[in-house]
Amino acid sequence: MSEAAPSITKELFGTLEDGREVYQFTLANAHGMEADIINYGGIVTAIRVPDADGASANVVLGFDSLEKYLGGHPYFGAIVGRYGNRIAGGTFSLDGTTYELARNDGENHLHGGEQGFDKRLWEAEVVDGSLHLSYLSEDGEEGYPGNLEVAVTYSLTDQNGLKIEYEATTDKATPVNLTNHSYFNLSGDPSTTILDHVLTLHADHYTPVDEGLIPTGEIASVEETPFDFTEPQAIGSRIDEVEGGGYDHNFVLNGPQDSLRTVATVFDPDTQRQMQVLTTEPGVQFYTGNFLDGSLTGSDGTAYQRHAAFCLETQHFPNSPNEPDFPSTILKPGDTYHTTTIYRFSVRE
Ligand code: GLA
Repeated sequence: MSEAAPSITKELFGTLEDGREVYQFTLANAHGMEADIINYGGIVTAIRVPDADGASANVVLGFDSLEKYLGGHPYFGAIVGRYGNRIAGGTFSLDGTTYELARNDGENHLHGGEQGFDKRLWEAEVVDGSLHLSYLSEDGEEGYPGNLEVAVTYSLTDQNGLKIEYEATTDKATPVNLTNHSYFNLSGDPSTTILDHVLTLHADHYTPVDEGLIPTGEIASVEETPFDFTEPQAIGSRIDEVEGGGYDHNFVLNGPQDSLRTVATVFDPDTQRQMQVLTTEPGVQFYTGNFLDGSLTGSDGTAYQRHAAFCLETQHFPNSPNEPDFPSTILKPGDTYHTTTIYRFSVRE
């Protein structure tokens, strides 16, 4: 069967203080899936997918105005970089030089710093049914070495996947760890929590953390812990045993790193909407919206409460630049960073 190419429409979303315009692109495929993406932060503002009755609903947290995104939010739907997740003490050494990064999470560096990739205006181009976003992160930005040319390509697959391809090149060795920070609630109703969503995570190990959410360096077994989602478990089943109000941990994904494999499946028992996560990355940050406190409201006025959504941020492990035994996150001149993640939606059989 030949498939109709996904369509992409474009409209003005808002204007930044300095006059630059922000556009929203709507990607639609022939199977009833749509994704809205803006070129500010590369933010996925909505993903509409059908449920068992064919009813379409938005399954991510987000806003319908640029002002709300500019007003501050916890990375809803955004591209996160130059380094997604934490770098301890906001410092690392590379080739004999010590670099000092922005410390924007207590004493640590989080999600690229004060003005991470989530707060940058990206160049946008529609290429062959895909949305191609690019950004030049200059040498010294947020303390990082090297001019980093970054490209993120969003497309919809015929299997109702939102495919995200990340690419980067640099002129000096630098850490790079790119991810997308979408917050999912598969019910389509973010006034409910995701505690009864059922998660399977193909991760036999995770990286335990200290009080600052920095990995201790240990690669621990999930066996007989609340981190064991190797068999389907309701997200809320043991969440009370996890310190800090819920999950905010990096899981070590099974299977060969660099090969695109299914690493997670989540479904909502009410609507039967299901999401699979495929990635080439070695890790994923499973975060249960512990810091949401109802102060932010969505387009329909719903207050986003604690546990209103979950994130599966595919990534390399937190603090890798200071952990020689973790898979390396250093990109060298002449090499190309390339990772792929797909969030694929379906209705449970
Ligand atoms: C990530 C972090 C969390 C939190 C959220 C945003 O998931 O690991 O600790 O910072 O982003 O609030």
